[in-house]
Amino acid sequence: MALPPPLSTLLNFFMILLLASPPTASTPVCHDTCGSIQVKYPFGTGPGCGSPLFNPYITCTSNGTLDQLILKTHTSSYPITSISYTTSTLILTPPYMSTCTTMQTSPNFGIDLTAPFQISSSTFILLHCQVKSSTICDTSFDYLCASLYSCPEVVSLGMPLFSPTNTCCVYSPGNLDGKGELNLRENDCSGYTSVVSLGDNPTDPTHWVYGVALKYTHGVFDDIVTTKCTSCESSGGVCGYAPPGSGFVCVCKSGYNTSLDCSNYDQNQDFLWDSISPPPMYNVGNVWSSILAGIIFSLV
Ligand SMILES: *[C@@H]1O[C@H](CO)[C@@H](O)[C@H](O)[C@H]1NC(C)=O
Ligand SMILES: *[C@@H]1O[C@H](CO)[C@@H](O)[C@H](O)[C@H]1NC(C)=O
Repeated sequence: MALPPPLSTLLNFFMILLLASPPTASTPVCHDTCGSIQVKYPFGTGPGCGSPLFNPYITCTSNGTLDQLILKTHTSSYPITSISYTTSTLILTPPYMSTCTTMQTSPNFGIDLTAPFQISSSTFILLHCQVKSSTICDTSFDYLCASLYSCPEVVSLGMPLFSPTNTCCVYSPGNLDGKGELNLRENDCSGYTSVVSLGDNPTDPTHWVYGVALKYTHGVFDDIVTTKCTSCESSGGVCGYAPPGSGFVCVCKSGYNTSLDCSNYDQNQDFLWDSISPPPMYNVGNVWSSILAGIIFSLV
């Protein structure tokens, strides 16, 4: 029997709703990895995860095939390729940045001035510039320009191979302008590359490590949270925050949230108590009732 069209559409709609509804067992919203990156405090994979100070800028999103940790700024979204938690440094690879193997025109690179990130020791090399600014270009690094201009890919920027270095500007230490941008247009440059390490051979651009290094800073009130977070992470949890007041929460693997750490709850209890009341009282009550039973028993 064929249903009249409106009814079948309605049915389909409900089927989709059913299929799309989340599973009843709670899965944690915060993850400790994103793609190949280990995600720890103050970074988080989504709202409620990591530090509230970092949340507006950091997300874990899929580009269709792969999860990537992204830094969002007023200029663009930059994939984060590595994080060093010991040196509080992260490395970005801006999608329109040039390297020895891909050269392209780039929009301005920028970071929000209010965000807890600052340019670290990166060497910016501005490419195909109409004028070479005497205030920012350090000509003692012109050998880097010569090396980079030997990459066959320079032709895609409209330059002949082994171009003279007078259209290249090494800006080191690189700085951002009052809007938080590496202003390529103001300097009349078509593109840029940023190098975090020149490797063993500074004249071999095929082995340079490309990317923009940023230092990040925690807020001033973070000491207590950092202590709580360390024990949360070592118990297998992920640090997060929740209203009211963005207070600290430790998000455990089973989806249970606690203000302490995950070692207090074994897996079964987590599932059992997830939807009911907090478990610590149960444990305490249980202990006391056994002690009471023991006392009564020994009295009899
Ligand atoms: C646990 O905390 C996270 C982060 O704040 C929140 O998104 C999630 O809804 C909480 N889960 C439960 C079960 O309360
Ligand atoms: C996703 O990103 C990876 C690594 O950057 C890339 O190799 C892949 O082609 C991207 N996929 C899509 C659909 O853009």
